[in-house]
Amino acid sequence: MWAKTIEWLGDKARLIDQRKLPTREIYVDIKTTEEMFDAIKNMLIRGAPAIGVAAGYGIALAALKNSDKDYIRNKIDLIESSRPTANNLFYVTNRMRELLKKDDVDVSMLILEAISIHKEDRELTEKLGKYGRELIPQKAQCMTICNAGALATGGIGTALAVFYKAKEQGKEISVFVPETRPFLQGARLTVWELKKNGIEPILIADSAISHILKTERVDAIFTGADRIAANGDTANKIGTYGLSLAAREHDVPFFVVAPSTTFDLSLESGEEIPIEERSPFEIIEFRGISIAPKDIRVRNPSFDITPNHLITGIITEKGIIYPPFEDGVKILK
Ligand code: MRU
Repeated sequence: MWAKTIEWLGDKARLIDQRKLPTREIYVDIKTTEEMFDAIKNMLIRGAPAIGVAAGYGIALAALKNSDKDYIRNKIDLIESSRPTANNLFYVTNRMRELLKKDDVDVSMLILEAISIHKEDRELTEKLGKYGRELIPQKAQCMTICNAGALATGGIGTALAVFYKAKEQGKEISVFVPETRPFLQGARLTVWELKKNGIEPILIADSAISHILKTERVDAIFTGADRIAANGDTANKIGTYGLSLAAREHDVPFFVVAPSTTFDLSLESGEEIPIEERSPFEIIEFRGISIAPKDIRVRNPSFDITPNHLITGIITEKGIIYPPFEDGVKILK
């Protein structure tokens, strides 16, 4: 299957430029930490686990340039400031900081750590898919939001891994994909990726979600996550909370799919998760064309929090956690 989101080439990382999809499949070579910082901040690469993998390689690039520990620590701080919500970024920066504390650490160890983080992420996504697919009937119609696929991870995805692994078992799946305004990860990325990997997407406007859940058979919803607090409250792409409310109203099971690297067990609840506010231009312009007056106030929160009581279960690499999530997360420790 297609999963070429990020690749390490020994002295540089190669990324598919997700801003250019679906019209152009362009790969960009990232040679410095600053370039990786820009790539994450400006969404050339996005999706929580993929951001983590990219951060690891960004730090490896710093070590390749200068082995001085203070220099590398500064570059870790830079990478960490690229985006605020996805826990996977902080999981990786903390892991690299810990490694730097060792007396005998050298450049090759930092590079190998980044490669290991990528390999582990790939393995985690396989496990998520295997647990999740057991929830899918033989002929299924599902829904997702944003892009939680190969494009969002170092492997085959989180939510979309469930569909890929179910397909391997011979299950027949179609997936409703809300376009996911304003950045259109659903329309531009998920539809492209599902088609490329042999699963039928059905694109809908975000505003059609409730109507579809009311009028069509949807067996289950699977979403990814950017950060999950100890009580199961989940930060994910803006619109996920609304989707979970509509799912509850229409009795559609709502599953979050995420590896342990997305959990932040230091936070008691979702209220403590920082929500990224992105540029107003994502809303008032579409690819440089004005679609709203310029001189207006805009709010552009990029994520929202789905409260634990609206989540049917959280699929992790160690198994599926059901409420009460405070007890369930113990399997991750
Ligand atoms: O702003 P993005 O595109 O980085 O947001 C991505 C999401 O919200 C995904 O659903 C989440 O990171 C899970 S990806 C496996």
